[in-house]
Amino acid sequence: MPETSILMTSVGGYLPERIVTNEDLVSMVDTSDEWIRQRTGICQRHIVAEDEKTSDLACHAARKALAGAGLEATDIDLIIIATSTPDDTFPSTATRVQHMLGATSAIAFDVQAVCAGFVYALDIADAMLRAGRGKRAIVIGAESFSKILDWEDRSTCVLFGDGAGAVILESSQDADGYGVLASKLHSDGAHRDILYVDGGPSSTGQVGHLRMEGNKVFRHAVEKLSTVMDEVLELASMKVEQIDWLVPHQANIRIIEGMQKKMGLGDDRVVKTVDRHANTSAASIPLALSAAVADGRIENGQILAFEAIGGGLVWGAALVRFGRP
Ligand code: ACO
Repeated sequence: MPETSILMTSVGGYLPERIVTNEDLVSMVDTSDEWIRQRTGICQRHIVAEDEKTSDLACHAARKALAGAGLEATDIDLIIIATSTPDDTFPSTATRVQHMLGATSAIAFDVQAVCAGFVYALDIADAMLRAGRGKRAIVIGAESFSKILDWEDRSTCVLFGDGAGAVILESSQDADGYGVLASKLHSDGAHRDILYVDGGPSSTGQVGHLRMEGNKVFRHAVEKLSTVMDEVLELASMKVEQIDWLVPHQANIRIIEGMQKKMGLGDDRVVKTVDRHANTSAASIPLALSAAVADGRIENGQILAFEAIGGGLVWGAALVRFGRP
């Protein structure tokens, strides 16, 4: 039997229309454009409209990804949405998106791994398709993080934005080195208190607000991300020189540049969208990917490295040869 590989054949991104600049935030909290830019690299973020839900963002991104792959929604067997800001406590946002898309053959569920949600969902979808549980999947990162921010807390509200990104995965017996090459995930619940939401159905009965000790999260980030990047390179028997593009989670330009330095990558090999999108949590990697594919930087056949860390703590990385042979 020829080996099954899982191709990443298309990507789509969606950002809500409304842009909130750093200057806009100055009228809401005691902050400045200069502080936000210097500490985070963020200049602006997109924020959902009153009547716009995470499922709406996810659907926009999924439709673009489907069109890019030349597929109909009915061709899809699996929909996984990585989100920490679902429409409702249940049912899952993925089942809502399944219905909105008309993906009547798909099974659908959500994955909750905060900012690492996309690499978690990618790993799960890759494993399921490899095991023969369907041939085509949509993996979506979609977030309305603005809904869980404390808009009076300047240390967190300036950091995040809303959006969605989606990729199409397709199983192939004739991949010629394309597709998901390796992925690796980690969790360590001992660090729960440095990044969490202070509410939930079985604790307070309220949705709650994001709380973070940013400098503590920061200290974990580059160390854990570079270790997991080394692990996936080893799993794939590859060297960092073979990576065409690092497409990192877009939390903070200083974390991204820390990884860039550790890996010895030039600016021409790292996708950075944090200035325009801010931290969109699970959506940030597929959004960055869609931006770099849309403007022609990322091309079919290139080797991409993804990495992300989020509340939990949870973190992971993946290597993918993008497109199809
Ligand atoms: N504007 C102005 N001043 C501010 C602001 C603000 N928006 N926010 C905090 N400050 C102040 C603080 O009050 C503090 O003042 P003090 O010295 O008088 O006490 C000072 O700035 C420095 O605060 P620090 O928190 O030490 O600043 P730091 O350099 O660590 O930058 C930041 C903060 C940007 C949050 C950084 O720590 C960071 O990016 N951490 C990582 C966060 C992250 O990556 N999260 C990703 C995971 S998210 C997820 O999983 C959902």
